Amino acid sequence: MSLTDRTIFITGSGGVLGSTYVRRMLAEGARVVATDLPGHRAEALQAAHEGNANFRFYTLDVGEEAQVEEIFQRVITDGWEPNVVLNNAAITGEMLMGAGKSFPDFCDTTVADFERTLHTNLTGAFMIARQMDRDIVGRYPATLINVASMYALNGAHHPIYDGMPFKNFSAYGVSKAGIHGLTVWLAGYWAPRKATVNTIAPGAVFNGHSDEFQRRVGELIMAGRMAKPDEIADAMLFLCSAQAGYITGQLLNVDGGFSAW
Ligand SMILES: NC(=O)c1ccc[n+]([C@@H]2O[C@H](COP(=O)([O-])OP(=O)(O)OC[C@H]3O[C@@H](n4cnc5c(N)ncnc54)[C@H](O)[C@@H]3O)[C@@H](O)[C@H]2O)c1
Repeated sequence: MSLTDRTIFITGSGGVLGSTYVRRMLAEGARVVATDLPGHRAEALQAAHEGNANFRFYTLDVGEEAQVEEIFQRVITDGWEPNVVLNNAAITGEMLMGAGKSFPDFCDTTVADFERTLHTNLTGAFMIARQMDRDIVGRYPATLINVASMYALNGAHHPIYDGMPFKNFSAYGVSKAGIHGLTVWLAGYWAPRKATVNTIAPGAVFNGHSDEFQRRVGELIMAGRMAKPDEIADAMLFLCSAQAGYITGQLLNVDGGFSAW
């Protein structure tokens, strides 16, 4: 699939999936405007693509309104006007595990815990979309892809987390359901200005999980196993492409059949 006519802006690009998307997009000829928080993920991504003329990196915290409000003008001034935007950044289980923490039990969840996740995962996505509306939508055809999860419209299977070093966090699923609400709200609002917006809902992606966790989650998935990051990227690249131009307001589950039982 050719992406040579695409300049793709992506948030949270240094993570497991983000870095896979960037690698695959560059391989298909897209220009990629990668953004992330400062830190080891951002550094590794920049090191991996240093010298690639189609790759550009900007530091961006999607929870910081002032940063979001200036990002597209900076990118456009630098000659990297995006026609595809990916709301991919999120506080995920992986991130807290990496920090040596785990999500709290529901009864111990503070308002601050809950709102911190919502702020990044949902308010951050809203601010990116609002800025896209201000700076891009209506000026030329564009598309937004919001990243949800298999746990957006389906409940988490809590027993599979028993005894695991991580849990499934209430605010995560809530934020991912909300992001599809943003998609369907915007689809009709932007259609007259030739912008489309869709949601991709990745399933469980393998990232070094234990055999026991893989077995438990695999039993919930028709395909019987977790996804490889490249299998999510296959669908993401399609949504980014011109071939997806007549699709708007939709949610694409890429979950090995998890949501279809
Ligand atoms: N991996 C999975 O199994 C899975 C499944 C379903 C959905 N998803 C979704 O896919 C997306 C990518 O997931 P991943 O597995 O690559 O996660 P990850 O934790 O590896 O990466 C998340 C990225 O978001 C960035 N981020 C966090 N807070 C940010 C902020 N305030 N501003 C900017 N960037 C911020 C992190 O630095 C990181 O690079 C997320 O939206 C996630 O919810 C992942």
